[in-house]
Amino acid sequence: MFERLERLPDDPILGLMAAFRADNSPEKVDLGVGVYRNGRGETPVLECVRRAERAVLERQSTKTYVAPAGNAAFNQAMERLAFGAGHPALNAGRVCTIQGVGGCGALRLGAELIHAASPGSVVHVSSPTWANHVPLLTGCGLKLETYPYYDPATGGVRFGEMLQALESLPAASVVLLHASCHNPTGADLSEEQWREVLAVVQRGRLLPFIDMAYQGLGAGVDADAFAVRLFASEVPELLVAVSCSKNFGLYRERAGALHILTESASRSQAALSQEVRIARRLYSMPPDHGAAIVSEILADAALRDLWQREVSDMRERILALRRDLVRELRAACPSRDFGFIAAQRGLFSFLGASPEQVAALRADYHVYMTVDSRINVAGLRGENLKYFARSVGQVMR
Ligand code: LMR
Repeated sequence: MFERLERLPDDPILGLMAAFRADNSPEKVDLGVGVYRNGRGETPVLECVRRAERAVLERQSTKTYVAPAGNAAFNQAMERLAFGAGHPALNAGRVCTIQGVGGCGALRLGAELIHAASPGSVVHVSSPTWANHVPLLTGCGLKLETYPYYDPATGGVRFGEMLQALESLPAASVVLLHASCHNPTGADLSEEQWREVLAVVQRGRLLPFIDMAYQGLGAGVDADAFAVRLFASEVPELLVAVSCSKNFGLYRERAGALHILTESASRSQAALSQEVRIARRLYSMPPDHGAAIVSEILADAALRDLWQREVSDMRERILALRRDLVRELRAACPSRDFGFIAAQRGLFSFLGASPEQVAALRADYHVYMTVDSRINVAGLRGENLKYFARSVGQVMR
């Protein structure tokens, strides 16, 4: 049977990890997969996670199943983190949550729910969007179309064109939006622009599906959730996929959640019952360890404060790196303006290099990034920043 299967090319993002590992150059620079790195180039276990993990393991008396929708304390804590404690939509019982297998699992659960409600729906994603949105959303039968988003000339958003495209969508179209730290471009909407998008969504009766994978790493834990909280106050239906991979540093533990907001508590419960059935069909139940850690952190005032400080340290380091990178690139490649990198947020920016230049950076300088020239800014540090800027200067001048 399996002789018919062809070997597939590596994943465009994950394939870089193996290529980087196989490179023996002492100068190699990994700006590929989107994981946070500290000044030593490590992706550390957060201190709040270490402490919470100890407490969880000491208390744990069984490994029996948790529940089909996952850890209830985690789900509630994630609702308050995303929507803000006391949000009217939460108080009205209009939000139901199912734990996901990471943010990817949450996105897939959202896609499956849309497909169950309206088979073959079209999801409109930004151009460009995170590469893995495509298989995650289309894998269950949804169709994908794009709306204009990134403007390489300015490093910002083609906002007028984006609005125009959204205005023209038929009612009930699904629009996937990145809450903050847009992946792959780093170009985010301002609060004023979010209000304009909301008005279009309301007029067109569109279904917003917000992906919030980087809460806290852009402008702040609350600021990054601005769109979620605004939309939840104003729209009848909303899906929000959240991830704990980056802001809790829990990548391999696969902790995430899908929040479902509908017009009433009973409809949200109905949607949740569908999700539980979908999850049962796909993987039965989510893993518990990461969710238990997050719920411990968010329930304990001291751990929560520590987490806030650790997230803020990550965010400040990324922002400082963005400023340093612009300075070094200005010196190494004066013919180009990279100032947009300092205005963007989160882990990613597009360098603006062609695929040939990306290949040359890798072959000649051992610098790794995805072929669209997305760089993970957090992969830079004092020791490799100048080297990276000089390499870019050589290849892109
Ligand atoms: C990325 O965009 O690099 C991260 O979200 C990791 C992944 O799974 O692609």
